[in-house]
Amino acid sequence: MSNPDAVFQRFSLVGRKALITGSSRGIGWETAKALAEAGAKVFLNGRDEKVLADQVSELKIEGHAADFICFDAFDAEASAAAASTLLQQEGCIDILVSNAGAAFRNSLADTSLGDWRGVLESHLSTGFALAKTLAPAMQQQEWGRIILTSSVMGEVSRPNNTAYTAAKGGMNSLVRALAAELGTDGITCNAIAPGWVLTKATESLSLDNEWNTMIVNRNPLKRWGRPEEIASAMLLLASDAGSFITGQVVTVDGGLSAVL
Ligand SMILES: NC(=O)c1ccc[n+]([C@@H]2O[C@H](COP(=O)([O-])OP(=O)(O)OC[C@H]3O[C@@H](n4cnc5c(N)ncnc54)[C@H](OP(=O)(O)O)[C@@H]3O)[C@@H](O)[C@H]2O)c1
Repeated sequence: MSNPDAVFQRFSLVGRKALITGSSRGIGWETAKALAEAGAKVFLNGRDEKVLADQVSELKIEGHAADFICFDAFDAEASAAAASTLLQQEGCIDILVSNAGAAFRNSLADTSLGDWRGVLESHLSTGFALAKTLAPAMQQQEWGRIILTSSVMGEVSRPNNTAYTAAKGGMNSLVRALAAELGTDGITCNAIAPGWVLTKATESLSLDNEWNTMIVNRNPLKRWGRPEEIASAMLLLASDAGSFITGQVVTVDGGLSAVL
């Protein structure tokens, strides 16, 4: 006999609190919506208070629990300080999705040491700083979820992507290290590696005929990914449905990385 309630229960996040960085739009926003729909109280993050307040209102109108915390998630120290404040206020943040990030497409010659450090800081160091700040409370309650938004570029690369590829590859290693250390405390740590997903970050590529054709033809599904398709995988990793998945890089790319 089918039992949709039991399935629903496995994905339920009722009573959980989640911080999702870079969640005013794109992958972060769809992830926040999915986690809120599953019952979590979500804390949105971005740099624009007005946009975040509007997004929180949208979630509340749908009956979800939501708030926002504005900070520069490309600055690891500022991120740790903000997460600390949130912890004091909330007691524990059960689910961290360190998602804020930006593509950086520049040749090796045009990538300065400062650019390199900036890209590593915004992706890798912030992921580390947020995990380090939020993990102790998760350890205490013996349940937690740490999810980093990586990229297929963490495993393969293209020309003009040195810093971004290295940062995302570092994030893949970081979740393995976190998983090894935090597993006995009931905390799972994973990365999600999206392929090409249509968001504001990739809008200009979709409007460029040459890029768009390359991207669409590159995966077996012959289309762009949608942010909500990444959010579905986030929900799996955030919920008890994904309780035995840890230390993994979950690729959600329409099959891009499976074919030549
Ligand atoms: N789209 C893709 O094809 C793709 C593929 C692989 C991996 N990814 C990864 O997925 C993640 C999300 O990308 P996306 O495509 O959803 O990007 P997006 O649509 O441009 O959204 C980026 C989000 O991050 C926020 N943000 C930007 N800079 C921030 C900062 N310094 N501090 C706090 N928030 C900041 C933005 O809000 P504000 O601008 O208002 O601050 C926005 O909410 C990134 O880590 C990216 O590397 C994306």
